[in-house]
Amino acid sequence: MGAKSHKTSPDGQGVHRPVMLEEVLAVLQPVEGLDIVDGTFGAGGYSRALLKRGAKVIALDRDPGVLRFADKLKKEFGEAFTFTPGRFSELDALVALNSDNCVDVVVLDIGVSSMQLDEAGRGFSFMREGPLDMRMSKSGTNAADIVNTYEERRLGDLIFAFGEERNSKRIARAIIQARAEQPIETTLQLAGIIERATGRKPGGNHPATRTFQALRIAVNGEFDELVAGLFAAERLLPEGGKLLVVTFHSLEDRIVKRFFSGAKKSGQQSRHLPPLQMEAMRWAPVAKALKPSGAEIKANPRARSAILRWAMRTGEAARSVSFSGLGVPLSSLRGAV
Ligand SMILES: C[S@@+](CC[C@H](N)C(=O)[O-])C[C@H]1O[C@@H](n2cnc3c(N)ncnc32)[C@H](O)[C@@H]1O
Repeated sequence: MGAKSHKTSPDGQGVHRPVMLEEVLAVLQPVEGLDIVDGTFGAGGYSRALLKRGAKVIALDRDPGVLRFADKLKKEFGEAFTFTPGRFSELDALVALNSDNCVDVVVLDIGVSSMQLDEAGRGFSFMREGPLDMRMSKSGTNAADIVNTYEERRLGDLIFAFGEERNSKRIARAIIQARAEQPIETTLQLAGIIERATGRKPGGNHPATRTFQALRIAVNGEFDELVAGLFAAERLLPEGGKLLVVTFHSLEDRIVKRFFSGAKKSGQQSRHLPPLQMEAMRWAPVAKALKPSGAEIKANPRARSAILRWAMRTGEAARSVSFSGLGVPLSSLRGAV
């Protein structure tokens, strides 16, 4: 889950580069006349491109900081554009408040935006001194709460599962020792504790990269949001509707892939017999995962780990939300953060 979509200009208004926009537009061709939910508005890169091509867009974002971009689009595109603050896990309910139109498409561009990363005061970056915050919605539990209160084992499990950090135990121990001296309150304070605990390889990623990713995922409940958002889109979209999801690391991509494939055998049986029962397909398996072009990666290295998956809704009734079989890390701790 990387930061990605925007280059921010000095005035903070964002000369942004939405990731895999060309591929998104190609999947939706022709865009004109479509009713689209942009569940991760950010600086509005996707929304703007879709509006320009004649779509109607309902955009959502949980970060109150994006309102200035939404106001701009509202002025430019009027009735064709609606912005609703909120989380995409509730996208069907939020859309129902704003429209009785049938929605044709849901687009999700998961993760943190470059604007969030670049603003030191948001506490997402281990490169910039700021409070250890990381809350996209600016409310609820923050990263400092986790780092200063979790017991060692739970902290280590979280860093391992959400950050895929091999040094998780060592890092958790160093955090517990450091906070016994004084509370850990800033980004650089935490980054320094991690660097001293693990050392730093020349030319490698900063040793705090994975721990910061893990904390961000935990603070924002990102896996829970992703799973709930996918099922909300399944409820919302009619037969033939499309769901497009851009993710930034393998943990998220695995969830999306398994969600779309959905087919599960019910119960164990002989491999010599045909499956007794396959779960009905809610999504037509239309496409392989798409990756950004070499040219995009060259122009915007932050796009390099992006993966776009999309599929078309069948006429089968939507499933109830279930985490089972999706490979969500630490789902046993769900709701504990
Ligand atoms: C990578 S940016 C999207 C950029 C956008 N596609 C563009 O072109 O400008 C991701 C955005 O999704 C928002 N976001 C992340 N998780 C969310 C959630 N669960 N519900 C609503 N918005 C979310 C973040 O606040 C951030 O602004």
